[in-house]
Amino acid sequence: MNDDPSHRHAMRPCLTVVLAAGEGKRMHSVKPKVLHHVAGQAMLAHVLDAAPRESGDKISVVVGPAREDVAVEARRKHADAQIFIQAERRGTAHAVRAARAALEQAEGDVIVAYGDMPLVLPETLAKLRARRALGASLVVLGFHAADPTGYGRLLEKDGQLEAIREDRDASPAERAVTLCNSGLVAFDGAVILSLLDAIGNANAQGEYYLTDAIEIARRRGLRCDIVLADEAEVMGVNDRLQLAEAEALMQQRLRKKAMLAGATLVDPQSVHLSFDTKIGSDVVIEPQVFIGPGVAIASGAVIHASSHLEGVSVGAKASVGPFARLRPGAVLETGAKVGNFVEIKAALIGAGAKVSHLSYIGDATIGAEANIGAGVITCNYDGFFKYHTKVGAGAFVGSNSALVAPVNIGDGAYVGSGSVITKDVAADALALERSQQIEKPGWAQRFRVNRLAMKAKARS
Ligand code: UD1
Ligand code: MG
Repeated sequence: MNDDPSHRHAMRPCLTVVLAAGEGKRMHSVKPKVLHHVAGQAMLAHVLDAAPRESGDKISVVVGPAREDVAVEARRKHADAQIFIQAERRGTAHAVRAARAALEQAEGDVIVAYGDMPLVLPETLAKLRARRALGASLVVLGFHAADPTGYGRLLEKDGQLEAIREDRDASPAERAVTLCNSGLVAFDGAVILSLLDAIGNANAQGEYYLTDAIEIARRRGLRCDIVLADEAEVMGVNDRLQLAEAEALMQQRLRKKAMLAGATLVDPQSVHLSFDTKIGSDVVIEPQVFIGPGVAIASGAVIHASSHLEGVSVGAKASVGPFARLRPGAVLETGAKVGNFVEIKAALIGAGAKVSHLSYIGDATIGAEANIGAGVITCNYDGFFKYHTKVGAGAFVGSNSALVAPVNIGDGAYVGSGSVITKDVAADALALERSQQIEKPGWAQRFRVNRLAMKAKARS
């Protein structure tokens, strides 16, 4: 059992309704706003990651008409997410009402979240629920805004939340309030629908504001509480500047987590991580490293400067770079080494194997302790299909060889430098594929004498 108060009420089921029907006009994009990425995944996915997922918990996502792409992203994250369509964009309360069928079933908490708050944390949602459990019908996540312009203001009386006033509808005195609405609200599932149905649209924008639920609840004598969050955690993203701001904040969070877990980031500011990056202890990451989604780096590995990794697993004590590119499907086993200007794709590099310089290894299996010389290329593609290359344990492939797949190099075999290998090589054999070297004694000396004479004659 978890004694943390934020977990004590996890047994009461929770429905999370994520609003993602906004147009995001200020992004100037063909892509809907909530599908723009922060740290390697869509903002919507980040919000869905924060939603309670105990058994009995449910998720609804409200999307705009003809927004199959948003629905697909929601289901990619949670296959059982219920999708509702808000046919017309008539305000946040109208959007929540689109999920009526789910709300009618809701027994416990209902959390309403906006799809453009990528930094929101699961702990914060748990805090809202814990506060709800103390008797409030409605709990709003508030924050103190450095600049409150544009946000709804939280109006309090005797320590109770009385109303949320939207910026456009606020009086000058109300505008001076800096305590703002983040947009995250936890409701008692038993009252949310009757509150939503009582909301009208007599305001500056003619929209149905979810925030009007507070005044209605107060008139009915229901308790409304505020839980506070950091402004950085609840920032909403409406344009590309805010997207970059959210990215920077998320990167700070991810780097901090990696360092506190025992990784050394020599120059943290220059290391880019992804939402799902897994980094073991005693990993060292040098400056200018980009880590895309799906990367796990085991303890003691070193990622040298200016490397690019995406969809890869780096084993314990492995060494990568500088200037290496590890593409999806690269797996480096314990102590493997991938050096400078090497690209690896969909390939396993066995324990202790070395690919030290200037190679392309794609669709391949490299055995333990094998040595791949400088400039070795696996020729994996004929313009139509991809083929596999296998290099056995302890094999040695000489520099500048081309391994034309499909092909197998046996355990312990040698491939002479510069060979173009098109046939399998047996274990412990030497394969050479190059013309024989010829040597003409004294030729160079005779050549120089001859040419010098020609040059002297031409000048005279
Ligand atoms: C909203 C809040 C405001 C709060 C601010 C925090 C309301 C009325 N106001 O204002 O108090 O301080 O967020 O950022 O709720 N959406 C739909 N359908 C609609 C309208 C909106 O799905 O018809 C979605 C949007 O995609 C967005 C969210 O709801 O994710 C919020 O809408 P937005 O128009 O951005 O509200 P704000 O004016 O920012
Ligand atoms: Mg907004």
